Amino acid sequence: MKLIFLLSGDLEYVARKEVEVFSKEILGGKVILEDRQISVAEVSEIKLLERLSLVHEVSEFLFSGSLEELKSFVNEVELPEGKMCVRVRNIGGRFVPSNEFEKELGAIFYRRGAKISVSNPDKIFRVYVTENNVYAGWLIHVTNTKQFLERRPDLKPFFRPGAVVPRFARSLVNITGVENGVVLDPMCGTGTMIIEAGLMNLDFIGVEAFEKIAKGCAINLRYYNLPVNVIVGDAKNLPLADESVDGIVTDYPYLQSSMSFGDLRELYEKSFPEFHRVLRGERIVFLTNMDVEEFFEDYFILESKFYQKVHKSLTRRIYVCRKKK
Ligand SMILES: C[S@@+](CC[C@H](N)C(=O)[O-])C[C@H]1O[C@@H](n2cnc3c(N)ncnc32)[C@H](O)[C@@H]1O
Repeated sequence: MKLIFLLSGDLEYVARKEVEVFSKEILGGKVILEDRQISVAEVSEIKLLERLSLVHEVSEFLFSGSLEELKSFVNEVELPEGKMCVRVRNIGGRFVPSNEFEKELGAIFYRRGAKISVSNPDKIFRVYVTENNVYAGWLIHVTNTKQFLERRPDLKPFFRPGAVVPRFARSLVNITGVENGVVLDPMCGTGTMIIEAGLMNLDFIGVEAFEKIAKGCAINLRYYNLPVNVIVGDAKNLPLADESVDGIVTDYPYLQSSMSFGDLRELYEKSFPEFHRVLRGERIVFLTNMDVEEFFEDYFILESKFYQKVHKSLTRRIYVCRKKK
């Protein structure tokens, strides 16, 4: 079966990566087609869609082609059991009057005997119009984006500036590709990454060098009724057994930040061998403001690297790496 993912327009490249890994590792398939804010994947099962973060919606793929071809398709598609409606969304590039098009397609469904309810449908026939194509399918998942705003770093009981936003953090956790197992953040700070992992029912461990921050992280974990799995420790010498975690996701301290536990170069030199030692899974995902290939190339293979301009003097690198065997 095929799924259409509507990606967030913000951080679209990260969203695309999230869907690529999710389709492969969780849904047992792969992305077969990409368009603006759209990924279509062939998958072998549908589950855990509620984990998705930088994805707005998921639909069961039915159609891709032109607007005219879609009208013919709607004349043949199997009708759903309950009440339905058509919703059309333009995704840049060209503009199709969505209200009129919804009415036109809805009228075809109605003539064929479908029960239409715009205010309370059981099923939504979702149409996405991109510059060069039209995609359609039955909508099966809508991401609850409000939850991420409710977990904004400054709304947590323990706050420190510089924490990444939860929606982004969750996407990074998803990019580790861990379905069941332990996610480690070896420099966890206030706990944004591990809180998202915990709320996805993943096991997690946070390590933080500064006791005061680790205690704050514990307060945040308790606030979300999560286990207080945070240890005071050093990412250069992790207090963990060999091959004991399934994925690693972290945000390195930045050069501008004074809060680094020792020399930053030493941190990069010594943390990657440690990540390699404790990782039994495949991927590490990390954020930094430097190019750090020279430090990890003996231990990890670069899978993807993205640049994100945060402000004038900070361009974040988002690294996705796989463990060298
Ligand atoms: C950029 S912040 C991480 C922010 C975190 N993602 C959050 O949600 O708050 C980096 C964190 O790494 C911690 N840190 C710095 N050096 C460390 C080390 N050697 N071992 C463990 N933690 C370290 C810092 O105290 C800081 O909390």
